[in-house]
Amino acid sequence: MLTLSDITVRYGERQVLHRVDVTVARGELLAVLGANGCGKSTLLRAAAGLQPMEEGSVTVDGKGRGPLDIAVVFQHIHLVRRRTVLDNVCAGALGRLPLRASLVPALFSRELREEAMACLDRVGLADRAHDRAGSLSGGQQQRVAVARALCQRPRVVLADEPVSALDPAASEQVLALLAELAHVEQLAVLAVLHQPSLAARHADRIVGLRDGRVVLDGPPHSNVDSLYQPAAMEAVS
Ligand SMILES: Nc1ncnc2c1ncn2[C@@H]1O[C@H](COP(=O)(O)OP(=O)(O)OP(=O)(O)O)[C@@H](O)[C@H]1O
Ligand SMILES: [Mg+2]
Repeated sequence: MLTLSDITVRYGERQVLHRVDVTVARGELLAVLGANGCGKSTLLRAAAGLQPMEEGSVTVDGKGRGPLDIAVVFQHIHLVRRRTVLDNVCAGALGRLPLRASLVPALFSRELREEAMACLDRVGLADRAHDRAGSLSGGQQQRVAVARALCQRPRVVLADEPVSALDPAASEQVLALLAELAHVEQLAVLAVLHQPSLAARHADRIVGLRDGRVVLDGPPHSNVDSLYQPAAMEAVS
């Protein structure tokens, strides 16, 4: 399981995360909700090791996070558009390959290509393996990004607004896929979402952030209205 403890992040004078504790169990899809600027992306970057923290720890199954334990899926998909879908998925394994093989796609081994095909099959896109990545729709590209994350063989998948560029049907598909990966592959999956209704339909649990603090941790159908209400106006004299 993924355990984030006491995560405290400051940008200059401004503290944007205040001792945040979040856990995600194996086999669980956790949705993180909250208004713009409440610290969701900062928390996800901290979990991924991409964000300096003032305090706090990130562990996977009780040990310090290893370089390949956590795979990240971003809102902007970052596929190499002119390469094939399959090459993009193989790239998920870069961190665990010898350097030479990782730099030259022609040297991707048959075993790796087979594993990447299995990952693509997992997201329902095996038939597009040899197309250029740039020729797929946004929703399909996001599913390729999920396949690439799987090819890393992670124990944890973090996704920051993975469906915000997708239409409603594609959003449902990607969320259902993330839930299935959590449940079937027993991964810990944390997804930042902006639509509470999607979280209610697909997540196993939700965490709500407000001004850098956890203010809600409960079942997917919890009332989330308070997360999005503006702070009470200070009296102005
Ligand atoms: N690199 C940075 N330097 C300074 N302040 C930052 C930086 N990144 C984020 N912030 C500030 O930290 C706070 C939290 O930002 P963050 O991006 O984590 O919010 P978020 O919840 O992901 O918002 P959104 O829903 O808009 O994506 C915001 O007030 C933001 O202005
Ligand atoms: Mg964000």
